[in-house]
Amino acid sequence: MTEFRPVALVGDIAPRTALRVFVDGTAIAVVRTDEGIFAILDRCSHADVSLADGDVDGCAIECWLHGSAFDLRTGLPLSLPATVPVPVYAVEIRGEGETAQILLDPTPIQAASSGPPAFN
Ligand code: FES
Repeated sequence: MTEFRPVALVGDIAPRTALRVFVDGTAIAVVRTDEGIFAILDRCSHADVSLADGDVDGCAIECWLHGSAFDLRTGLPLSLPATVPVPVYAVEIRGEGETAQILLDPTPIQAASSGPPAFN
């Protein structure tokens, strides 16, 4: 069952950065890109480090430790060394502009938990 939870305001996140939030004890990186707001588990699949501290590039976030980028729409790794997807979450925006509320469903989107890496 979808249960969206308020986690931040759009204005809480600078453009092309991420904010770490906690939902039911799980750290989730809420990422503001030029294409919209996305949510991804705040843990790189290569090693246990925060993705929220990485660089946002287009619709991807790059792990600060070894540089794997993850597609924020699918969680799939776009570059090595990571080969395993990171769960992503559905986001809903209520309102307009910087004061709009960001809500997310803490149930991971299933498609991101399996499938091959998006590179060869
Ligand atoms: S810890 Fe993220 S790519 Fe290695």
